[in-house]
Order: sequence, then structure tokens, then C-alpha cells
Amino acid sequence: MAQRLNFNGRKVLVTGGARGIGLELSRQLIGQRASVLAVGSNKAHLDRLAIAFPGKVHTFTADLGEPRGATAVAEWVQDQHPDCSVVINNAAIMRHDDLTVGTEGQEEMIAHEIAINLVAPLQLCTALLPMLAKAPDGGVIANISSGLAIAPKRDAAVYCATKAGLSSFTRSLRDQCRHKGLPVQVTDVIMTLVDTTLSRAGSMKKYPPAQAAADVLTGLAAGKPEVWVEKTKLLRLIFRISPAAAYGLMRGQ
Ligand SMILES: NC(=O)c1ccc[n+]([C@@H]2O[C@H](COP(=O)([O-])OP(=O)(O)OC[C@H]3O[C@@H](n4cnc5c(N)ncnc54)[C@H](OP(=O)(O)O)[C@@H]3O)[C@@H](O)[C@H]2O)c1
Repeated sequence: MAQRLNFNGRKVLVTGGARGIGLELSRQLIGQRASVLAVGSNKAHLDRLAIAFPGKVHTFTADLGEPRGATAVAEWVQDQHPDCSVVINNAAIMRHDDLTVGTEGQEEMIAHEIAINLVAPLQLCTALLPMLAKAPDGGVIANISSGLAIAPKRDAAVYCATKAGLSSFTRSLRDQCRHKGLPVQVTDVIMTLVDTTLSRAGSMKKYPPAQAAADVLTGLAAGKPEVWVEKTKLLRLIFRISPAAAYGLMRGQ
């Protein structure tokens, strides 16, 4: 059985840690006596978080869509916070796009979405892995993916592709760590539909961000290699029985 993880005294990097699910992750980690390294592109949100939790949060403003964004974050952590032992790749954007009609600047927007959702987490994982492997109680990487990695929806093709890529990468990275005997837990989080800015376009019933964050932290503490949040457990089951049914279910969302 996997050993239980305690966040007490740990330093945790949370990308997108000042808004949405990331904000709830930051709050609850602090509630469990961890300190948080919060990253985001909006300095005002980060400042608000730091003021709300004096001494518990360190912030770094970075646009993860920029070419050197993830590298700058990794350098900050390595230089200023080498005792960080948990990395939660949470930041992402979702664009809704009709690919059948040409949109001005479409190539740049595709590259930007891939940079934030896929390139940045991959770069942070690989840059910070040696530091995490040296953590006294072992390191943790959690990549926040989506049920849309399993079955994509129609109007967010690039987003769904980035999440499928992130889940695939997370599995390979976990296998590499196990193969080399590195003491790093690598967890794929398959997130459900949650009530945040990212999901505002949909009218379906959504899971509360605080509950989503709690489920993530419970799964990480239990040492789970995969955390399936709320309805994604049912999606996994449907996909196992009939991929076509799962695709049909998610296509129109
Ligand atoms: N909400 C859902 O229904 C749902 C479903 C499945 C998976 N997820 C996943 O859950 C995670 C959190 O999403 P959410 O719902 O909390 O979204 P959200 O409320 O829109 O928050 C997104 C977070 O990402 C950060 N971010 C966005 N662009 C960034 C950039 N260029 N550089 C740095 N940080 C950036 C934002 O910080 P700034 O504002 O400071 O840039 C914000 O903290 C994402 O990985 C998402 O794909 C969400």
C-alpha cells in the first residue's frame, strides 16, 4: 500500500495558484500547514493571496505562455526555494474555436494555448525533477488534466489535445521515475467540470472548486498515481465499456 503523504511543513509550487481551483488548492494547503509558491500571470491576484496569508505564500508573476515563462519559474524555485518538494501544474486556459473557419491569428493562439497547457508543465516537471528527487520525504508532481483528455469535446480541440498530451506525459514520467527508483510520486489528476472562469461557457451543473481541490489533495495524500475527480470516475467506466459511448457523451458539451 502507498505511504500517506503529509503536507505539513512542505513547500508546494502551485501554478495558477491565485484563482479558480488553484486558489482553493493554495488555501487548503496552507490550512494543512504547507507553504505555497503561487505562480500566475496576474500580479494583482497573487498580491491578494499573499496579503490574505502573510508569511505562508511566496508569489512569482510569470506568463507561462511566453517562451521563457516556465524556465523563469523553475529558476526562481531552484534559486530561492530549493526545499520545494511538491509541484502542482494547474495553470491552463481553454479557448473555444471553430477550426473549420479561418480566424485571424489562429496559429499564434494555438501555439499560446499549447505553451501554457502542455509545454510549460512538461518543462517544469523536467527542470524540477532532480530537486524533487532529493526531497527528504520524497517529491510529488501532480499534473491537472481533464476528463476531456479521455473523450474530447467539439469546440475546444486544442485544449483537449493538450490535456491528452499532458496525461500521456504524466504516465511516461511516472514510469521513468519508477524504472530509475526515484522517490517521486507522479500523479495524473483527471478533473471534472468545475465552477470556475475556465468553464463559464457551459450551462451544465458544475462541481465546487473547493471540493475539487479537496479531492486532489486527498488523492495526493493517499499516494494515488491517478486521481479521478467526481463524474470522471463514471466517464472512465463508460470509456472502458464503450469508447464510442464516452465520445458521444462528451462531444456536444
Ligand atoms: N474548470 C473546469 O471545469 C476544469 C475541468 C477540467 C480540468 N480543469 C483544469 O483545472 C485547472 C485549473 O483550471 P480552473 O478551472 O481553475 O481555471 P481558471 O479559474 O480559469 O484558472 C486558471 C489559472 O491558470 C492561470 N493561468 C492562465 N494563464 C496563465 C498564464 N499564461 N501564465 C500563468 N498562469 C496562467 C491563471 O492565473 P492568472 O489569472 O494569474 O494568469 C489561473 O490561476 C486547469 O488545468 C484546467 O485545465 C478545469
